[in-house]
Amino acid sequence: MSELKVAILAAGKGTRMNSDHSKVLFPLCGVPMVQYVLWEAAQLSPLKPIVLIGYQGEQVAAALGDQAEYVWQREQLGTGDAVKKVCAQLPGFSGDLLVLYGDTPFISAQSLRAMIEVHRSQRAAATVLTAELTDPTGYGRILRSPTGVLSGIVEEKDASPDEKSIREVNTGIYCFSVPLLRSVLGQLKPQNAQGEYYLTDAIGLLAAAGQPLATVKSERPEEIMGPNDRKALARTEAKMRREILDRIMEAGVTVIDPASTYIDPRVRIGRDSTIYPGVILMGETKIGANCRIGPYTQITSSVVGEGSHVYFSNLTGTTLGKRVEVGPYTHLRPGTKVADQAKIGGFVEIKNSTVGINSKVPHLSYIGDTTIGAEVNIGAGAITCNYDGVRKWPT
Ligand code: UD1
Ligand code: CA
Repeated sequence: MSELKVAILAAGKGTRMNSDHSKVLFPLCGVPMVQYVLWEAAQLSPLKPIVLIGYQGEQVAAALGDQAEYVWQREQLGTGDAVKKVCAQLPGFSGDLLVLYGDTPFISAQSLRAMIEVHRSQRAAATVLTAELTDPTGYGRILRSPTGVLSGIVEEKDASPDEKSIREVNTGIYCFSVPLLRSVLGQLKPQNAQGEYYLTDAIGLLAAAGQPLATVKSERPEEIMGPNDRKALARTEAKMRREILDRIMEAGVTVIDPASTYIDPRVRIGRDSTIYPGVILMGETKIGANCRIGPYTQITSSVVGEGSHVYFSNLTGTTLGKRVEVGPYTHLRPGTKVADQAKIGGFVEIKNSTVGINSKVPHLSYIGDTTIGAEVNIGAGAITCNYDGVRKWPT
């Protein structure tokens, strides 16, 4: 089977976001939009995906790190130019190229796999993922010969009234045989309404050259949607949040009030745990089985052992053992480790400290840079003075 390389186009500015930041870095449920696309890409091929960067490209590359290879497109001359830059990075590669956009966070590996299978079984030069939309405004339209064979794609701005009435649109997701794609990329010309190099013209050129083309109609057109402005961003956030909560509930977790529960896609929660209203779980947080979290609790990048109960509290970079009780009004800061069956009570702040098995810090305390052994009870109002103005001292 030929190799598969994934290219994610993310050089555009996202003008309608009205922002100094790249659209693909806007967070959805705490994670940059483009990260969702990368997670799916990683399931499709062992080869590192290429992310095409341009506007705020340094920030995009910094946010994604070594998950991808980066190709610069300094000037956004169009999707055709973008893919030309990608191909220039792949000398000698003769496999398939899957082209995705960085701003379509709902795209699933499952749909893409189905499309790649069609591409391969039909030995196509190019396969286009299409969608039938009730309102196709703004999208490129799929052109077919009288026998129904794909013959090209026309952009909305270049389309005749007849062509505009076509409801089958180009999702912008394609699978190309790279040698055949290369054979037409040099022929793209920016002679169109937008003065851009259109990748869509490569389809017409391959058709004219008699190359076999395939289409796959998306069964879930909502997967190719991406937000173009901040109003759509808020709707996208709500939809992503609901998808994450659905996945968590399917895995055996009770969410009392999904409308007031906010969970990052990297969070893992064990079976038979219950999430009460007003809970925000962020970062790579792991909650064990049979826990009760909330109400009104925020936990970031922390581990909570099974059977623990955390309510009305804020935890960051904290590790809790099993059957630990935390709350209400408790602030646990990075480096805090609480062993099994310990209890941290109301108006207690702990930073960079260890609390041993069965120990208690029940009321009104500040504990910093401290090691507390097992079976210890810290009295109300205790403070560890760890800072002398110059150095921090452990207790
Ligand atoms: C494109 C398709 C259109 C399709 C639509 C689906 C073309 C010519 N048209 O139109 O048929 O219906 O997508 O959404 O391809 N990008 C770059 N560099 C560039 C230009 C674009 O990286 O020089 C990136 C953008 O960041 C964006 C994506 O490519 O993520 C699509 O670009 P955009 O200009 O929005 O294409 P559309 O006009 O939507
Ligand atoms: Ca677009």
